[in-house]
Amino acid sequence: MPTIVFANSKGGVGKSTSALVLAQVFAAQGANVTLLDADPNQPLASWADRDPEHVPANLRVVPSVTEETILDHIDTAAARDPFVIVDLEGTANVAVSYAIGRADLVLIPMRGSQLDADQGARVIKVINRQAQAYRRYIPYAVLFTCTTVLRGRDFKHIANTLRGAEIPVLRAEMVERAAFRAIMQIGGTIYDLEQSDVSNPEAAIENAEAVAAAVVEHLRVQQEQNA
Ligand SMILES: Nc1ncnc2c1ncn2[C@@H]1O[C@H](COP(=O)(O)OP(=O)(O)O)[C@@H](O)[C@H]1O
Ligand SMILES: [Mg+2]
Repeated sequence: MPTIVFANSKGGVGKSTSALVLAQVFAAQGANVTLLDADPNQPLASWADRDPEHVPANLRVVPSVTEETILDHIDTAAARDPFVIVDLEGTANVAVSYAIGRADLVLIPMRGSQLDADQGARVIKVINRQAQAYRRYIPYAVLFTCTTVLRGRDFKHIANTLRGAEIPVLRAEMVERAAFRAIMQIGGTIYDLEQSDVSNPEAAIENAEAVAAAVVEHLRVQQEQNA
């Protein structure tokens, strides 16, 4: 049912990684998930090809999603699966607008840099325009990615600015972890990683599940408010 869209016109902020990790957690919890790869670079389709045997049977990756096909893919998948997750290209384009128009939740990944925040602000403007065009409220939240224990000055400034602007921030963050890089490189899921692949894969799983729980909670609160 819910369609979760990852958008930030800045590249390298963790859209694809976070989309994949979220999909893996939902799939591990037993839900059918469709992951739409709408980035011409096809990072998620490439992930699926890297180790097809370790793509969970209930996680369907749809490659080559374009502006011509994205609405059909979203509508078909949303009618069938409990979770549809869309990974977008790092530019503002028509596919981004369409996906946002259909989203139950737009997640805006940001690392703690001002550049990411500036591009994130542009995504929020697109969301507001789409909300106006479709005459509906489109829920969104910032997802901090690649965070470390040490918070830089940039990060604190951005967090304060978001709070001041009343922009929702997901209560869990994607911590910077080798496990999240590793799955993109070697394929498979965070649940397949061994101690010999990366140190402490359990911590990555715990982090990923906390993010997934925060996403579900955010969706639930939004649905209640709009009911
Ligand atoms: N939570 C994380 N921990 C460690 N590395 C990460 C994390 N999120 C993203 N990365 C790394 O950052 C780079 C960009 O991530 P990616 O998901 O491709 O961003 P985007 O899709 O926004 O371009 C990749 O090398 C990826 O492995
Ligand atoms: Mg990407």
